[in-house]
Amino acid sequence: MLYSIRQFQSNTCLLKDFYIRKNRRLSRRISLHMTMMVFFFAGYLGFFYCFITDIHLGLEMITAHVFFFGAIFVAMGNNLHRGMLFSIKSSYQRTLSISTALEEEREKLLTANRQLLQTKDVTILALAYQAELRDGETGSHISRTSEYVGLIARQMKKNSSQSSYLTDEYVHELVKSAPLHDIGKVGIPDRILQKKGKFTPEEFEIMKKHCEYGSEVIRKAQEKLNFQSFLEIATQLTLSHHEKWDGSGYPSGLAGNQIPLSARIMALADVYDALRSKRYYKDAFSHEKTCAILREERGRHFDPEIVDAFFAREKNFERISSEHGD
Ligand SMILES: [Fe+2]
Repeated sequence: MLYSIRQFQSNTCLLKDFYIRKNRRLSRRISLHMTMMVFFFAGYLGFFYCFITDIHLGLEMITAHVFFFGAIFVAMGNNLHRGMLFSIKSSYQRTLSISTALEEEREKLLTANRQLLQTKDVTILALAYQAELRDGETGSHISRTSEYVGLIARQMKKNSSQSSYLTDEYVHELVKSAPLHDIGKVGIPDRILQKKGKFTPEEFEIMKKHCEYGSEVIRKAQEKLNFQSFLEIATQLTLSHHEKWDGSGYPSGLAGNQIPLSARIMALADVYDALRSKRYYKDAFSHEKTCAILREERGRHFDPEIVDAFFAREKNFERISSEHGD
């Protein structure tokens, strides 16, 4: 009997924290049950005391006391068990409905997030395409160069001194930023941008400004955000994709590692695509001829490690160029 009482008490303590504390009616019933238990237990002790000390007077009264409070204690205990099980069941059902509602909310958030990311990608492409369109491009230049950038970055992540810098997140953002590299062309007058002939030195100076125009547009947009976004990579890449490894590029004449990695990768992707594409002043070069030019420019126009990464994946470049050519 005492063992059962002890078990019941420890079970009640365990459940109290989780299910019973908020149920005032059940808490009151438990307190009353505990009081009955004290009376019942006191009766037990009284009975044993009278029995051991051989006091017969009052023994019948105490026995009646024990039976009375014992019966109430047991009846209340059964009732409480039912109450506690019911309380657990209601809590479980509440938890279940909260968890279902949370799962639904999570799904909604994930869908909204996916849609937001798609909207972001489409907005970038629309902006980039606008600049390409004015330049007489078809838009496939944007998607091809993005693929080339991804190929080089993933290859360098596997095997280059920059692999620790090229995290998955960086590579992802770099690929997303690549279409924006020539967005500054929207600021170049049509007479220069669409000129079918060699630029005069003055026209070329104006053309060079597309790097600064583009980075300025993106920097202004970036200022409106209060968190670090892919636009930071886009700003670097847009500003410096015409810099050369030997310092002879524009707009700032940066050399070597002064040129952001994103821009160094973009430079090779952009030049490979330009060489492989037909222009009014030249035919499209073959993949082999393009490779020979890039090899020659290793350490001059391009970062040697980026040229190495290109040659490790050159077959993929050739496939993309043939499948997605203009
Ligand atoms: Fe450019």
